[in-house]
Amino acid sequence: MSKYLPPSVAFEEAENESSNPSTNPTIGDIIAARLSRRDLVKGFAAVTVAAELVLPDALAAAPGPEPVAGPASSFDFTELAVQPASETHHVAPGYDADVLIRWGDAVLPEAPAFAPGKPDPAAQVKQFGYNNDFLGYIPLDGRSDHGLLVVNHEYTNGELMVPGLAPRSDKDNSFTGVTREIVDAEMMAHGGSVIEIKREGGKWSVVKDSKYARRITAETEMEISGPAAGHDRMKTTADPTGTRVRGMLNNCAGGVTPWGTWLSCEENFNGYFWSKAAAEPLTNEARALRRYGAPAEWYAWGLFHDRFDALKEPNEPNRFGWVVEIDPMDPASTPKKRTALGRFKHEGAGNIINADGRFVVYQGDDERFDYIYRFVTDGEVDLENRAANKDLLDKGVLSVARFKADGTGEWLPLVHGQPNKDGQVWLSEANGFKDQGDVLIRTRLAADMLGATRMDRPEDTEVNPKTGKVYVMLTNNSKRKAGETDAANPRAENLFGHIIEINPSGGDHTAPTFTWDIVIKCGSPSIAEVGAAFNPATSENGWFGMPDNCAVDAEGRLWVATDGNSPKKTGRADGIWAIETEGAARGTARCFFQVPIGAEMCGPCFTPDLETFFVAVQHPGETEDDGPLSTFDAPNTRWPDFKEGIPPRPSVVAITRKGGGKIAG
Ligand code: FEO
Ligand code: CA
Ligand code: CA
Repeated sequence: MSKYLPPSVAFEEAENESSNPSTNPTIGDIIAARLSRRDLVKGFAAVTVAAELVLPDALAAAPGPEPVAGPASSFDFTELAVQPASETHHVAPGYDADVLIRWGDAVLPEAPAFAPGKPDPAAQVKQFGYNNDFLGYIPLDGRSDHGLLVVNHEYTNGELMVPGLAPRSDKDNSFTGVTREIVDAEMMAHGGSVIEIKREGGKWSVVKDSKYARRITAETEMEISGPAAGHDRMKTTADPTGTRVRGMLNNCAGGVTPWGTWLSCEENFNGYFWSKAAAEPLTNEARALRRYGAPAEWYAWGLFHDRFDALKEPNEPNRFGWVVEIDPMDPASTPKKRTALGRFKHEGAGNIINADGRFVVYQGDDERFDYIYRFVTDGEVDLENRAANKDLLDKGVLSVARFKADGTGEWLPLVHGQPNKDGQVWLSEANGFKDQGDVLIRTRLAADMLGATRMDRPEDTEVNPKTGKVYVMLTNNSKRKAGETDAANPRAENLFGHIIEINPSGGDHTAPTFTWDIVIKCGSPSIAEVGAAFNPATSENGWFGMPDNCAVDAEGRLWVATDGNSPKKTGRADGIWAIETEGAARGTARCFFQVPIGAEMCGPCFTPDLETFFVAVQHPGETEDDGPLSTFDAPNTRWPDFKEGIPPRPSVVAITRKGGGKIAG
């Protein structure tokens, strides 16, 4: 029997193949000189790590060094003692962590009750979708106890949703047992939800019959806007204008704009398209698709829907991989794919209004050796007149980051026909880019050409409102070889990832240059070969691997959600770690929350009063080590609800302090 391959791992394994063939110069040996100037000293000597993807249990479980007495923590919570694996979530002492909504719960007023194990597209389109990733809170009337929660539904785990459905394996993607009904239910479980929520008597609940309630799915009508709208490469049989598309796919992290819209970011869209291009001649079109890993055939949708068969509709994949702007205040509004922000495997959309009024979005492209991007609007944000920002995101300049060994960096504009500072024009017809639409549809190829820095899987981004510094989570990159390290990606076989900080020159987020630093290098500080670097005041509970989503609180401290910790890899479940970002305590991390076994932690999001912290629990039961926990016909006693035939369900959890008050003083 072939090994169970959880979808989340399949996505990453596909990324392992590294579609980025670019050999942009790396910075190599200067690393040692740069690192020695840093004050985070633990484990700096080693820059190589153990060869195995999975650490031996003995190593993972080894007790770490006692934390050294450090500066007093500014976090006033007692650290959670880390758990390796458990069927429930855990929160630091003194807090409540209540499930707000789960997969299958009602979103629209007429939604039927959740029926475990019975895939039903007509029910699912009214119910909360699967695998909730990004969460954004939009206050109603400025309130922190009444607002809208916008939620991305990134992908589905068929083997956890449907009894008897064979899990996708690494050897077989014949999709035995998949029916049209199952596929359509999967499509309805993708996309996003808008729910109205209220806190009464200290407890949060979903407002029933809300006028804002909305489900967005893989079939929702959307508009394509910005420079790539109407482009020849965006036209299909169903849409000869290249301006309308149905659905959004694999929406991972995102952002909320200051005018209250939701930026939902399409990530691994390549997995939904069919018919491998391998047998085809390597045309320019096929090469461009390959740079995005498409088609990848992770889902059976192409069996029943021609538009997901890239041989039948070769341009359909070009219509995915965008940032989608959605107005949650108007459930009848048409979501817009904002092509000016580029097409790649989008992760976060951390943003800020620059001092001059222009809007700036920082974006990660989550694949091994891919890039960090910045988008700056031409126009200014108008906070007095919400409607004036309606199409602000359609005009502006997208740039990609180059990190230099001396701790500086530059933003390289992705503008068709524009000479660089040496007078060379790279993004030209001669190089395969006819116009700006081409540059944006093929953002990755354009960025390759400019010599951007190949990063260790850029995930979420956030701007620190106190300092203006920008954090980017680099989750891991097991494929970086010893000769491929550079100052910004200093570890070969970087299994555990790191967090990088970008400081715009002169505090100007539109400036062409920046300085940068590494806040934390993740992994166990007690294993020298890992080369981890936390502040030595970090306890054995405080270190973690694989940073993914993040949030910044009003004190400018960083809250990181992880994806990929497990008993075997790090001796701990995924969760939330709280990190000091400034002063002597910078780089100290503390464990705050942990997810149930097999789950990944997503969506950290504070209410404006900082009294509630919403988090998203994705794919509980999806364990790499033992196969899925919830196979319906083989009950696993480790999952408490299983006896009643209820599989583990992705959920949103509201964390509040017992007795009230801010999450962390
Ligand atoms: Fe969907 Fe890059 O995490
Ligand atoms: Ca992510
Ligand atoms: Ca993830």
